[in-house]
Amino acid sequence: MNILLLGSGGREHALAWKLAQSPRLGKLYAAPGNPGIADHAQLVTLDVADHAAVVRFCVDHAIGLVVVGPEAPLVDGLGDSLRAAGFPVFGPDKAPAQLEGSKGFTKDLCARANIPTAGYERVTSLAQGLAALDRFGAPVVIKADGLAAGKGVTVAMTMAEAVAAVEDIFAGRFGAAGAEAVVEEFLEGEEASFFVLTDGTAIVPLASAQDHKRVGDGDTGPNTGGMGSYSPARVLTPELEAQALAQIVAPTVRTLAAEGTPYSGVLYAGLMLTEQGPKLIEYNARFGDPECQVLMLRLESDLVELLLACAQERLAEIAAPVFSPDPALTVVLAASGYPDTPVKGGAISGIALAEADGAKVFHAGTKTDDAGKIVASGGRVLNVTARGSTVRAARDAAYRAVALVDFADGFCRNDIGYREIAREDAAI
Ligand code: AMP
Ligand code: GLY
Repeated sequence: MNILLLGSGGREHALAWKLAQSPRLGKLYAAPGNPGIADHAQLVTLDVADHAAVVRFCVDHAIGLVVVGPEAPLVDGLGDSLRAAGFPVFGPDKAPAQLEGSKGFTKDLCARANIPTAGYERVTSLAQGLAALDRFGAPVVIKADGLAAGKGVTVAMTMAEAVAAVEDIFAGRFGAAGAEAVVEEFLEGEEASFFVLTDGTAIVPLASAQDHKRVGDGDTGPNTGGMGSYSPARVLTPELEAQALAQIVAPTVRTLAAEGTPYSGVLYAGLMLTEQGPKLIEYNARFGDPECQVLMLRLESDLVELLLACAQERLAEIAAPVFSPDPALTVVLAASGYPDTPVKGGAISGIALAEADGAKVFHAGTKTDDAGKIVASGGRVLNVTARGSTVRAARDAAYRAVALVDFADGFCRNDIGYREIAREDAAI
């Protein structure tokens, strides 16, 4: 079967790498892809905002499944357009993708379905926002309602920070994504990400992961898309996972289906593990990046079969996916200046050496320059990923490989996995 994969980051390289291992794959096309994805797919140019052009491509190339990596095309309704044309799509329609597209939509759904989450208020003006801050007090969390590339959330420890965040949003910093905002209660606990596949009815748990959002060691500095991750996140124990499934994920899937907007695709629940149990922080309508990279390194099942069964509402009929019990860990190599102004064009070499050492290096923000060499072209550039019998062993293997990559204009965090490694050490 021919598959079209949309996206260009490390998440999509990991998906392409895994899709390519399936005996069911005919030809893989990727738009726009990247030099790593090019090892597994034919790269094509497609404007994903032009739904008719994407449908035409699918007709012309006998595409049997479209896998949508990032959230923007989903929130834009590409899934609806492809389904209307008869193509199976991995990824939700526009209405259920509002779980990621609108923080207020998700909070209201939680309220309707009695799902544990932080107390909140939706606000549409500066005055309403400031009044809500008065009621909540600091610490408090302020979120632009729409997609803001991970930059729309402020965890304010003081009232002054909170006021500045609300002022920023209503001064137009996030454009249309900040026409509305959510002010919510500050939750305390450790975070974990939980991934499930659902076709609107059946729910198939995949695995847990934890990422590191701050740019600097020890969780310091500004937020990023994620500087590294590992899976599984054992802090989400089997008991807590069952609780998250029963109290958060299942009522979400049931409610959306009952309301006539069933969710199909991967549902990524960002959880806060509080003293009162797991609470929902946010939903994403796609795989995490770089969480997908560690999930794919652990996945032993056929990814084509899983994603196709999801797209064709056959999840209940297939065997549960198998993940290696061995943890996987990924270290993001970012370009100097990330997340503000990453330096572009930095030369990269040594990827083959790192892979010969046993790691898998996913391309996240690279391109091939005029001389045919791989150079940096984005903020997050490479994801050096490895498995081991423990998180510590996976971490050691990943950093050994990082040392073999030559990327003078890059940097990474040196403490990926530190929480879990401390727990492993304490358990000895
Ligand atoms: P989000 O984009 O909603 O995942 O928020 C980004 C980050 O902000 C999360 O990963 C958390 O670290 C933090 N965060 C979001 N909501 C809350 C909350 N209610 N309480 C504490 N931290 C939060
Ligand atoms: N790594 C966080 C995300 O993909 O949203």
